Amino acid sequence: MAIVLKSPEQIARMRVAGVLASEVLDMIGEHVQPGVTTARLDEICHRHMVDVQGTIPATIGYKGYQHATCISINQQICHGIPGERKLKRGDIVNIDVTVIKDGWYGDNSRMYYVGEVAPHARRLCETAYEAMVLGIRAVKPGATLGDIGHTIQTFAQSRRFSVVEEYCGHGIGSNFHEDPQILHHGKPGKGVTLRPGMTFTIEPMINQGKRHARVLADGWTVVTKDRSLSAQWEHTIHVTEDGYDVLTLAEGRSL
Ligand code: MF3
Ligand code: CO
Ligand code: CO
Repeated sequence: MAIVLKSPEQIARMRVAGVLASEVLDMIGEHVQPGVTTARLDEICHRHMVDVQGTIPATIGYKGYQHATCISINQQICHGIPGERKLKRGDIVNIDVTVIKDGWYGDNSRMYYVGEVAPHARRLCETAYEAMVLGIRAVKPGATLGDIGHTIQTFAQSRRFSVVEEYCGHGIGSNFHEDPQILHHGKPGKGVTLRPGMTFTIEPMINQGKRHARVLADGWTVVTKDRSLSAQWEHTIHVTEDGYDVLTLAEGRSL
C-alpha cells in the first residue's frame, strides 16, 4: 500500500476526529478510580462517542474486536480487553481510543494513575511520554522514520528501559492503519523520508524490563514476557512544511 498524502482539507477533517479522540480521554480521566471495572470505563467511553460526539469507535468490528477502547493495565503492553477486572490503587493504565468522524480516523492514548502510584511506575510513564514527545519533535520534511525510532529508542534506553519492537505506529487517515509502519526503534537516516501531508501515529511502548512481548490466550492482550511494567502514549501527527502538527491536541493544548 502506498503512503497517502493528505490535502489541507483532509487534514482539517482529521483534526476534528483527532480532537474528538482526545476529548474522550479527557472525559474518562475522573472515572479512572480504584474499584471501577475496565468494562465500565469502556462503556462510558462508548456512550460518549456514540451519544455525545456522534463518532464511531473504530475498534468495534476491527478484526473481530468488540470494544470501543483498549485498556491495558500494568504489565499489559497494549490491546488489553475491557472486562470485569477492577482497577486498584497503584495501577498504571493505558486507555487507547480511536474514533471515526465523517470517515476520518483519530487515534490517541494516554496513561492514567489509579490513586497513588509508586515512584518507579511514575518514572516509567513519564519516560514513555517524553519518548513520544521527542519522537514527535524529530518529525519534519527530510527527516526519516529511522530518525524518529532512533530518538525514541536512545532516550528510553538512556533511562534503562526497553522499547517494544513487535508493535508499532502506523499511517492513518480515511483508514485505521495505512502505510507506513512507524517503528519506535531504528537508525538515523534510515527508512522512509518524511514529506508534508503524511499522517501517522507515534505510540511507543516502553517496558521497565526486557522488550519482549507475548499475546495472552484471549488472542488480544499483549503483555511483557518478563511481567515487568509497560507504558504507552499515542498521538496522531501530521507532517507540515516545516515540522509537525499534533492532530490529537485540542485547541490551546500543548505537548
Ligand atoms: N488503537 C490501537 C492503535 O493504536 C489499535 C487497537 S486495534 C484493537 O493502533 F483491535 F485492538 F482495538
Ligand atoms: Co495507533
Ligand atoms: Co491507538
